[in-house]
Amino acid sequence: MDYDQLLRLALERGFFAPSCELYGDSPAGFWEYGPIGLALRNRFVELWRREILRRDDMVEIDGSQIMSKSVFEASGHLQSFSDPVITCSKCRSIYRADRLIQESTGQTVPERLKNSEFDRAITDNKIKCPSCGGHLGKTEGFNMMFKIGIGPSQTEAYLRPETCQSIFVDFPRLFKTLRRKLPVAFAQYGKSFRNEIAPRQGFMRLREFYQAEIEVFFNVDKVNSIENFDQVSNQVVRILRTGTLPEEISLKKAVASGIIPNKLFGYYLGLLHQFYDKTGLDMSKTRFRELSSRDRAFYADFSIDFEVETSLGWIELVACNYRTDYDLRRHSEVSKRDLSVMDDETRVLPHIFELSMGVDRSIYSIMEHAFEHDGERNVMRFRAELAPVQVGIFPLVTKEGLPERAEDLHAKLKMIFDAVYDKSGSIGRRYRRLDEIGSPACVTVDHRTLKDDTVTIRDRDSMKQTRVKSSRVEEILTDIMRGRKFPSLSQVE
Ligand code: GLY
Repeated sequence: MDYDQLLRLALERGFFAPSCELYGDSPAGFWEYGPIGLALRNRFVELWRREILRRDDMVEIDGSQIMSKSVFEASGHLQSFSDPVITCSKCRSIYRADRLIQESTGQTVPERLKNSEFDRAITDNKIKCPSCGGHLGKTEGFNMMFKIGIGPSQTEAYLRPETCQSIFVDFPRLFKTLRRKLPVAFAQYGKSFRNEIAPRQGFMRLREFYQAEIEVFFNVDKVNSIENFDQVSNQVVRILRTGTLPEEISLKKAVASGIIPNKLFGYYLGLLHQFYDKTGLDMSKTRFRELSSRDRAFYADFSIDFEVETSLGWIELVACNYRTDYDLRRHSEVSKRDLSVMDDETRVLPHIFELSMGVDRSIYSIMEHAFEHDGERNVMRFRAELAPVQVGIFPLVTKEGLPERAEDLHAKLKMIFDAVYDKSGSIGRRYRRLDEIGSPACVTVDHRTLKDDTVTIRDRDSMKQTRVKSSRVEEILTDIMRGRKFPSLSQVE
């Protein structure tokens, strides 16, 4: 399935849609989640909480989206969080320099070249304005922060470009009040904002987007003392390093050979990999890609992206960055507060390893990998645990008391599951509608229900129907949501 097909389905079935659609001046890069997309996102985030946060005893916080200017002076974003732009001197069209060069030459261009290097590439390759053929001006840095004014005095502040800054500035209070020891991980799920130059990949490049970030604070002298590494060390992952072919390797070997610098990073990359495996992504289309120093963010000393292959190419889902002690050191310098903490008998300024996840991109990729057109129907083969609607309840026909019986069942089940009631259209069309949003099961009330209180449960994937006592529906659906395979239901009649 390609992006346009998925977008059509997303619009028709209430997954997501462009923001301010009614108006001609709706800006690119802003999207809304409809009810089905929102339910999918909530389930995804719950899985992230369970499979990573709870598994590792992490601490979750929820910080504000607007933060003071000082935060971003300290973080370096005001000085360094910019993309290279180039303006046509004739028609004034604006382009991102690296993308323009990439599209014109077909060669990959690092994001962090000097402006003069972009200019040289433009001249050497005789690149002109794609819109009018005009001469292109010099490359300049465009800061991607959204500036806002607070109160009548319009005090300068910013929408956060990454959720983690509140974790950094809250760190001293959190560490003290929670009485935790290093290493400790703080997490946050919420919105971030980046004034992208020309977001063209629709839902995949947003100016307002959800991140789920994990910041691990650790003593840099103890990166190989993490016992939990054994939990994931046999996990095989695919790693791509610059100038080499992708390699399938266990985390144990990757750490031993220095491909992954230490056990602490290896452990968290392992948790991440195992989490995505549970989302239903096709893991054969995923990889970790190490970034060269020219591609890394300005605060990172080692970066490895978790990427997924989609119809739009390889997409970064999670930036895994070793941020050194950069963040706490800078916040310490600018706030003039000592942010060091005791680790056993030693005072240390913690270093940070982060797993910075793009939630919206993850949702898109899960949808693309789950989608199948099997000749006669569209079906989203979501893992039951992620399914936005868990069960549909239908009367076979809209007469002879069947709707009332089905409504009674729906009233009971909707208090336990995300259940929808649907009586419009043929039963086949109703099944198809729920297949398209990936509901794992449908329960149908028919004439036999009135006689012996049985209903049919239909499995989305096999389309097989099984008749069961209606008193057992709740228990069976609970099993399905826990991942039990449907065929075993034949034993329950
Ligand atoms: N916190 C890293 C990022 O937002 O890319």
